[in-house]
Parts: sequence; C-alpha cells; structure tokens
Amino acid sequence: MALLAEAKRVAAEFDFPDDVVRAIGDEFVAEMNEGLEKNATTMSQIPTYVTGVPNGTEKGLYLAVDLGGTNFRVCSIQLHGDTTFSLTQSKVPIPRELMEAKTAKELFAFLAKQIEIFLKKHHEDHFEAHVRRRQTVSTPEGYRDENIFRLGFTFSFPVHQIGINRGTLIRWTKGFNIPDAIGQDVCALLQEELDLLKLPVKVAALVNDTVGTLMARSYTSPGKTGTLLGAIFGTGTNGAYLEKLSKITKPMGGEYDSSTGEMVINTEWGSFDNGMKVLPTTVYDNILDRESVNPGIQMFEKRISGMFLGEILRIALVQVMKSPTIPLFRDDDSSHNDYNSTTTVTPSSPLYMQWAVDSSILSIAEADNSVGLRALRQEIEKCLGVSAPSIEDAQAVKDIAHAIGKRAGRLAGIAVGAIVLQTGRLKNNALASSGTDAIKTSDAGDTPIPEEDIVDIGVDGSLVEFYPNFEDYMRSSLRVMNGIGPEGEKRIRIGIAKDGSGVGAALIALVAAKMEKPSDYVNELRAKLVRVQENVDGRENPADGSTSTAAAATVPESKPVAPGTEKEPVNGESKDLQPGR
Ligand code: BGC
Repeated sequence: MALLAEAKRVAAEFDFPDDVVRAIGDEFVAEMNEGLEKNATTMSQIPTYVTGVPNGTEKGLYLAVDLGGTNFRVCSIQLHGDTTFSLTQSKVPIPRELMEAKTAKELFAFLAKQIEIFLKKHHEDHFEAHVRRRQTVSTPEGYRDENIFRLGFTFSFPVHQIGINRGTLIRWTKGFNIPDAIGQDVCALLQEELDLLKLPVKVAALVNDTVGTLMARSYTSPGKTGTLLGAIFGTGTNGAYLEKLSKITKPMGGEYDSSTGEMVINTEWGSFDNGMKVLPTTVYDNILDRESVNPGIQMFEKRISGMFLGEILRIALVQVMKSPTIPLFRDDDSSHNDYNSTTTVTPSSPLYMQWAVDSSILSIAEADNSVGLRALRQEIEKCLGVSAPSIEDAQAVKDIAHAIGKRAGRLAGIAVGAIVLQTGRLKNNALASSGTDAIKTSDAGDTPIPEEDIVDIGVDGSLVEFYPNFEDYMRSSLRVMNGIGPEGEKRIRIGIAKDGSGVGAALIALVAAKMEKPSDYVNELRAKLVRVQENVDGRENPADGSTSTAAAATVPESKPVAPGTEKEPVNGESKDLQPGR
C-alpha cells in the first residue's frame, strides 16, 4: 500500500488546476505577440516566407529530406494534383557521434551522401542521364534546368529564416549539439556538400517540420477549410500557423508575395515560458533540465515531447526507489507476481542511465488496463531491466506515467488553443447560416458542424499518434480556456497529417520553384561553380572523370521547372497514401 500511496502522491505533483490552464493560455498569447513585434524573444515566431497554403491541386515530382529527430529521411514525392500523392522513401538513423560532431561539415556530408545513395537507388535513370550529360555535353542546352531536382529541406530546429531557401541556425535542440553550425546557413551547408558530390539537386526550400505538416494537411484535408495550424508532438514539439501580415511588425528582410495578406509563422513554442512564469514544474523536471545539454531552454518542450517524457519517468522512479520505506522493484511484493520469483533490478538497468528509458513505455502503461497489467510488466522487464516486477510495481509505474502523459497532453492543448485565440478563427461563426456541407469534428458528438465553422489543425508525431487519449487530454484544456469553452472545442478538428514533413517540404519546394526567376538559377549556378572550382583545385580525379569547367560549359539559359514532367517512382516502396487524418 505504501508504494501505491507514494505513486499517487508523485502523480499528483504533475496535476494542475484549470485556472492555471487559463493563465498559461494568456501568457502564451502574450509571448506570441511579443515574438511578432521584436527579435530575440522566448518564442521566436519565425517568419517562413510561405504566404499561402495549398489546395490539393498541385502536381509534380520533388525531393524532400528531413532532419530533425533520430532519423534522416530522404524521399521523393509525386503530387498527383487530386489531394493524393505517392511517396518513395528511405530512412537512416543519425549516428550518435554526428549529433555532437566537431564540425557542421561532418553532419552535412553524411546527409548529402544519403541523398546520393537514394537517387542512385530510386531514380537511377535520371541520375545516370545527368552524369552522362555532364561528361559529354559541352553546349548550354545539355544541362537543362528541368533535369535538376528541386529539394525541400525539412530542418526541424530553430532557424532564423531569411528567405525561402536561406536560414541560419539559432540553436540546436533534441540532443544535437554542434556549436560550429550555429549562425551558419543550413541550406548553403547542404548545397555545398551536394555540389561536391555533383548531384543534380537544388535546395529550393527550407522548411520546419511544422510548416510541412501545415502544408500537407492543407493539401489532403477534407472539405474546403484551409488548415490553420500544423503541430508536431513527437521527439520535439512545435507549431506553425497562418498569421496576418499586418500583425508581423518586426523587421523581415527577405522577399515574399504579400497578396494573400498572410504568412506562415513558425512559433518555436518549445521555448514558450523559458522564464518559468506559469508552467507547472516538479522536482523531476528540475533534475532533467539541470542535467540536459541546454538548461533553461525549451522548457515547454521538456514537459511535452517524446524526447523527454521517458526521462521524466525514469527520474521519478529513481527518486521513489531511493526511499527505504517504499518497496518499488523490491522483493516485498514478490508474492504478487506471476513468476513467484525475486524482483531484481539489473545493475545495467536503463533506470540508471540518462535518456535510456524510451517514452514508448508511457504509451504501453496508458494502454494496459488489464487486471494483471501483463503487457506493462513485460515492458518493465524488457525496457527497465527489472526482472519479475509485481502487479503493484506496474501499477505504480502506470500511475506516474499516466500523470506525466496527461500533463503533456493538457499542455499541448493549451498551445493549440492559444493559436486559435490569437488568430480569432472561432469568431467566424456560420452556425446560424444554412446547414449545407455540415460535417463532424473527430469527437463533436452528434451535432453536425457546418464546414465553414470548422477550425482545422494538422498534427503529426509519435506522441499524438501512439499515446492513447493524447487528443482527449488536449481537448480537456480547450474546453476550459476562456474564449473557447465546450462549444468552441467542438469546432476544432484535429487530424493526423502523416508524413507531413516530406509532402509539405515538396509542396514548398514547388512554390519556391514557381517563384524562381530564370536569372536566379543561372547566377546561382555560376556562383556555385566558382565554389566548386575552389574545392576541386587540388583534388584528384573526380570519380566520374568530369571537371568543374566541363560543368561550367553546360550552364543553360534556365527556365522555371515544369512540374509533373518526370517519371513516377517505379518500385515496390512507392505507395498511394490516403489523405492524412
Ligand atoms: C524544434 C522545432 C521542431 C520541433 C519538432 C523542436 O525541438 O526546435 O524546430 O519543429 O522540435 O520536431
């Protein structure tokens, strides 16, 4: 009993009352506005230079790469123009040592190499043709602009964006730490490595995963409602939304099309309330923060996202285990366990290692409602290195894990609610008008909501996808927020935008390609060739025998890319995806 009472006590530390939900919401809106007015604020509110969302009719073949969590993804996306797309992808884990490499070059050379491997494997004809042309053709017409893949680069870290394909890294998050990269233009870093490998690829757009999610959801979402917000609740957390240009009063350097009157803003809400004015905290959060690579930063993210929830649980369990009077993972209860054997924690248990407890155990704990908690006990054996845990042990883990997950969901809901309030979207109420196009939001009960009253939100990430009830916890916050309430909450439709970062990056690469002026590209190539020349001087025999000057001779009068002219990916991995929700 002592153990369960202690678990309940620890769980209660993660709870917070509804008036704190409201206070957090108010502070969130205040910090958003501050970020729109000036630079160097806690929430960066980064202008993305993307000024509209797609409507599902866009077409073409694009490349997209995604760096932002544990894996690096390379994909090619065929947009069919009817809200569907086909996607071919490969994924490699980022080697741990590259996440903390000495130089940015080490990481970006690795990324470029993966792109080369992908092109050789999945777009061999295109790749070979390019190499042949480069070797043999000496007239400008031989090197045609439409043969260059436009690439959308999803780079999911805070970047100071200075144009659609330019942006300097502000800081690393999610365990990456390569100080040399801070302040550098990440698109240029990637382009340089692609050029060294002589790949037919142009980094056309720099995209945060949340922006990609927003684009992808807009492309695939049902009905005619444009999506307001793209949010990630995965390894990290963040949101990007459509803001009125008139509200963005801080200086913006780059060029953009102002005709829509709106721009997508990357909030970087992971750093909301770094000053800890309103966020709930516990001793476990404080330990996590103190021992992280970035103390005092990403304080909202550290309470919400997958990178941190397993670690919070680990720290809380270790604290409980320290108490001599609380029998967690100790033999006192072996009478309760199936195996009738002694409960032991192996010395190499992940419980004793920072970051070693994967957040997926929280999902398993939440999902297991069986009497004997068999699935959770198996997970505790496998992932916490505890042999023969008792039912009571598992119940204690479940109670604490539940409290951590629920807090994350409630906080996530506040972020969504604050964006809805900031944009005033709930004020457009057509409920009084005809009932045509009436549809239901995911849990709006039986009352049909007219299409034009829906506020559409696209989400992606392991937590929102796999943690049971995450959306319910989000909604519990929405219902108690001033200006939303139970009625407003029903009008908010939350849908999964699967593969958002890939498809979204492709969509932005498409927009960027359309914006390119013919001369831009030629000038860029010329500048690039000077750089390549500098790099090649002194290098021996490039693998394909070509030289940089041969490449120079092939620079054409370019014209904008003709989307949709490439062949479809033809291989088993290619699949049609259903509209994400
Ligand atoms: C990064 C964001 C990103 C989010 C989700 C955060 O750590 O700062 O840029 O969107 O993770 O991947």
